[in-house]
Amino acid sequence: MLTDALKESAARAALDLVNDGMRLGLGTGSTAARFVDALGERVGQGLKVLCVPTSEATRAQAERLGIPLTTLKDTPQLDLTVDGADEIDDQLRLIKGGGGALLREKIVATASNQMVVIADESKVVATLGAFPLPIEVVPFGFASTLRLIEIMSTQAGCEGEIMQRQTPGGGRFVTDQDNYIVDCAFGAIQEPEVLAFALKRVPGVVEHGLFLGVADLAIVAGPDGVRVIRRPGE
Ligand code: A5P
Repeated sequence: MLTDALKESAARAALDLVNDGMRLGLGTGSTAARFVDALGERVGQGLKVLCVPTSEATRAQAERLGIPLTTLKDTPQLDLTVDGADEIDDQLRLIKGGGGALLREKIVATASNQMVVIADESKVVATLGAFPLPIEVVPFGFASTLRLIEIMSTQAGCEGEIMQRQTPGGGRFVTDQDNYIVDCAFGAIQEPEVLAFALKRVPGVVEHGLFLGVADLAIVAGPDGVRVIRRPGE
């Protein structure tokens, strides 16, 4: 219950960064959903924005709320993306993809002049990796890709169980892009940049959930209020 209130505070604080006429990226997940709800209220009061959702779930939510939507085809550059995260370190490196939307999330965030992360304090970690790293993989050659992910991760200093994500009903989880997700329980990722580079060398890997140098600031809500984490050097 407390966590819900913190997510709400972070989401409401991010609304202060939204101005009339902005082109926005809308994130995915329970924290981002609160931002979308709050944005919907403001749109109902007359705020003019044009938004690109990062998942079909967020698209459906935004449509229900009457938030005007566009696509990256029609609006290739956005002003601001607001999204949640599974983990945030003090350099503003992120793990994302717990909701399986990491590919669209990364495309939308990097198409934006600014990416703001909203989160409750539990998402802030000293070292990334306690949350299993999601990786989006094409179905073709899946077993071979899995094997290569394991080899490349080991070379990058990361070992742990690599599991294909399942739906609650026990079927294969399929992303909005019709791909699979594998979750890698590495425990601690000491060198995220090294791992990210290694994973991108595997042809069947579409994208991984390490967001490095993507976020500009994080709005983090804790019991004592809301604080901001900025990327070093910004
Ligand atoms: C969705 O794919 C994810 O990247 C989410 O942004 C992340 O899992 C955070 O979700 P919650 O806000 O629900 O914790």
